[in-house]
Amino acid sequence: MSDVDFGMLTEAARQAMRHAYAPYSRFPVGAAALTAQGLLITGCNVENASYGLGQCAENTLVGQLQLAGGGEIAAFTCVNAAGETIMPCGRCRQLLNEFASADFQILTPEGVTDMAGILPQAFGPQDLEEVSS
Ligand code: THU
Repeated sequence: MSDVDFGMLTEAARQAMRHAYAPYSRFPVGAAALTAQGLLITGCNVENASYGLGQCAENTLVGQLQLAGGGEIAAFTCVNAAGETIMPCGRCRQLLNEFASADFQILTPEGVTDMAGILPQAFGPQDLEEVSS
């Protein structure tokens, strides 16, 4: 996907962040993505009293992707409470890798990069296929 409007995507992530439920960490996160088909999807983190079992914003975003009929994520960004761009946590980089399009782009605090820029030598579905074939 060329010419991604990361300003628009960041604003969508900020709006999603306002829906976060983060009473334990007090670290609300909002995420936004464009699917390869051009659909805008968002997510926010949702915590609970069992601290280790919280849902990252990327989790709810991928749930939205699936609810919209599935597909691939072509562009992504996420923000903190101040609306600043943050890096997805390690587990969420793996989750994004699972659904990323071949031309995936992500806006990070250091600028726009691709999947290899945030998750080098990613372990992914292709590795499982190599084992099973
Ligand atoms: N969090 C996210 O939602 N996404 C990330 O990529 C980083 C971390 C959430 C998890 C937890 O609710 C809070 O931020 C503090 O770690």
